[in-house]
Amino acid sequence: MTSVTRDVFGQLLGGEGTVERFCLHSKEVRAEVISFGCIITRLETQDRNGTFSDLVLGFDVIEGYTNKHPYFGAVIGRVANRIANGKFTVKGKDYRLAINNGPNSIHGGLKGFDKVLWAPKIIENGVQFFYKSADGEEGYPGELNVWVTYTLIGRTLTVNYRAQSNNTTPINLTNHSYFNLAGQGSSNVYDHVVSIDADHYLPVDDTMIPTGEVAPVLGTCFDLRKPVELGSHLKSFHLDGFDHNFCLGVTQEQKQCARISHPLSGRVLTVSTTQPGVQFYTANFLDGSLKGKAGKVYPKHSAFCLETQGWPDAVNKPHFPSSLLNPGEEYNHTTCFEFSLI
Ligand SMILES: *[C@@H]1O[C@H](CO)[C@@H](O)[C@H](O)[C@H]1NC(C)=O
Ligand SMILES: *[C@@H]1O[C@H](CO)[C@@H](O)[C@H](O)[C@H]1NC(C)=O
Ligand SMILES: *[C@@H]1O[C@H](CO)[C@@H](O)[C@H](O)[C@H]1NC(C)=O
Ligand SMILES: *[C@@H]1O[C@H](CO)[C@@H](O)[C@H](O)[C@H]1NC(C)=O
Ligand SMILES: *[C@@H]1O[C@H](CO)[C@@H](O)[C@H](O)[C@H]1NC(C)=O
Repeated sequence: MTSVTRDVFGQLLGGEGTVERFCLHSKEVRAEVISFGCIITRLETQDRNGTFSDLVLGFDVIEGYTNKHPYFGAVIGRVANRIANGKFTVKGKDYRLAINNGPNSIHGGLKGFDKVLWAPKIIENGVQFFYKSADGEEGYPGELNVWVTYTLIGRTLTVNYRAQSNNTTPINLTNHSYFNLAGQGSSNVYDHVVSIDADHYLPVDDTMIPTGEVAPVLGTCFDLRKPVELGSHLKSFHLDGFDHNFCLGVTQEQKQCARISHPLSGRVLTVSTTQPGVQFYTANFLDGSLKGKAGKVYPKHSAFCLETQGWPDAVNKPHFPSSLLNPGEEYNHTTCFEFSLI
């Protein structure tokens, strides 16, 4: 049985609205999400001794999330990740997006889905959020209706993303939780053991845009098909961290894509998804300057993200799985996070 309760998390400045918090509790998992950005503000699971710890980075107060931050826990859209030069062409028409990442557009633009208030509705075992993205918002074509649904059953948190547009638009929704299975605020994730079920990955250029090649992982540092300890793996390949898309099957079926375990606490996170890709990111850009929950700071490599998603820059790469949503179609993707013990 999952209980779902609601209360007020905070107020947006300038009377822009009240941010509500929804607490989803099962026997094994306690999750909290807020109506601003559909952000997961807290996610607690038990270690092997039965002690609950909060595994996601974030803030105690709404100002943390309205200020500039690295998208902690938020839903990212309309298009997560980078679009080269903020430009794309759909049906012969050129579109220009706001540039907010070097020469590129990233994570939906200046005010993406992580920075808007969503309309919440409590449902069985969870909460559904709705947002209407206006035609032309952040430069994107079409009025887009979006539903993000969190449900918690036992040890599994499921995130479903659905959207409909009245004009052809690129779309790529993900959420962006920063995890540390030792508990948020732990200094690094080097003692986590990682495996990702991908035979291919996407090499990137020096602005992090995929070159277009779909490269085999075999014989590279991207071969995570067998579990590796993250710290020693990074060291042996002289890697500064991961921020790469791993290619999963392009079928709509739910497939397991990653498993991360933390031997010390016994915690295991298993991710499965209908999406064709997963971005594995080791928080390379955190620098300890943000003050997070309970006064914790978040240095480089103090968390990891597994962003299930369409492939980066797909809108400019015809041989990548299409990221376009046409009128009359429905975007419908599901990602499951299962928390277990070794
Ligand atoms: C989509 O809906 C918006 C808002 O109603 C409208 O302004 C726009 O013209 C519509 N676009 C198309 C292609 O129908
Ligand atoms: C679990 O309990 C044992 C015995 O008290 C202790 O040695 C161990 O450190 C605990 N593990 C964790 C992850 O807290
Ligand atoms: C989304 O949220 C869940 C629950 O916190 C988390 O496990 C997952 O890593 C997040 N990321 C993606 C890409 O869905
Ligand atoms: C979708 O998001 C992922 C992850 O953020 C990104 O790598 C990919 O480029 C995006 N897809 C498209 C079509 O933009
Ligand atoms: C979304 O897709 C899933 C299968 O992946 C299906 O079970 C579900 O009914 C779909 N939802 C809607 C509203 O079509």
